[in-house]
Amino acid sequence: MATPATSSKVEPSDRIDQASFLAGAKEIDQFPPPVLLEVAFAGRSNVGKSSLMNSLMQRNGLVRTSGTPGCTRQISWFHTKAGDGAELCLTDLPGYGYARRSKDERRTWARVIEAYLLGRPTLRAVVLLTDARRGFEPDDHDLVELLQGQAETSRPPVQVILVGTKLDKLSVSARKPALKILDESELPRSLGTKVIGYSTIENVGRRELWHKLRRAAGLAEAQGGTEPR
Ligand code: GTP
Ligand code: MG
Repeated sequence: MATPATSSKVEPSDRIDQASFLAGAKEIDQFPPPVLLEVAFAGRSNVGKSSLMNSLMQRNGLVRTSGTPGCTRQISWFHTKAGDGAELCLTDLPGYGYARRSKDERRTWARVIEAYLLGRPTLRAVVLLTDARRGFEPDDHDLVELLQGQAETSRPPVQVILVGTKLDKLSVSARKPALKILDESELPRSLGTKVIGYSTIENVGRRELWHKLRRAAGLAEAQGGTEPR
C-alpha cells in the first residue's frame, strides 16, 4: 500500500495558496517581528537554496536566483499559506563559502546569520542543502554544530533537514547510489536522518521535503486545519 508521502493524491496541505515576500534584512535590527513559525534554508553559495524555495512555494521567480554564486545578499522572509490554512515563514539565507566577498562583509554576515540562527524564537527547522554530487563539507558541519549549541532564546530544539540538490545532473541510475553515499556520510549519521534528493527542474523531492518541514514546524499534515501555535 502506498504511504501518504508517495501517493499521488494532492492534499490541500500540499498546495501553496499564498506566497509572498515579507521582509529582508542585512542587519539584526531589520529582522521582522517573530510572529509565525519559521524554516530557514542554508548551505554553500550556488547550491540551489533560493531555487528550492521557489519550487517548494510553487512560484517561479518569487525568490531571486542566479547562476553566479553570491546572489542572495540578505536574509529574506517569505510568508506562505497552504491549502489547509497552515501558515509558515520560509527564510532564505545568504550562502557561505563564497570567497569573493570582502572580509568585512563576511564578518558582518557571520554575525547577522548567527544572531538569526541562535536568537530567533520562532525558528523550528533549518533545511541544509548540499549538491548531491558533492556531499557535506566542513562549513556544513560548522552550521550544524552552531545550531546544536546553546540557543540565545527559549525555543524547542531546531531540527536539521538534509537535502541533496541538483539530482537531475546525475543520470537516473546514478541517483540512488549517490544518495546512499550521502546517507552514509558523517553528518546524516550523526543526526540520525536521511538525505532528501531534490531537483527543482524535475520537481523531485518537493512533497517529501514539504511534509518533513511541516512536521518539524509542528503543523498538522492531515487535511482540514492546523494545530494551534
Ligand atoms: P546563493 O544565493 O549564491 O547562496 O545561491 P543559492 O544557493 O540560492 O542558489 P540559486 O538557487 O540561486 O541557484 C544557483 C544555480 O543553480 C542557478 O543557476 C539555478 O538555476 C541552479 N539550480 C538550482 N537548483 C537546481 C536543480 O535542481 N537542478 C539544476 N540543474 N540546477 C539547479
Ligand atoms: Mg540564494
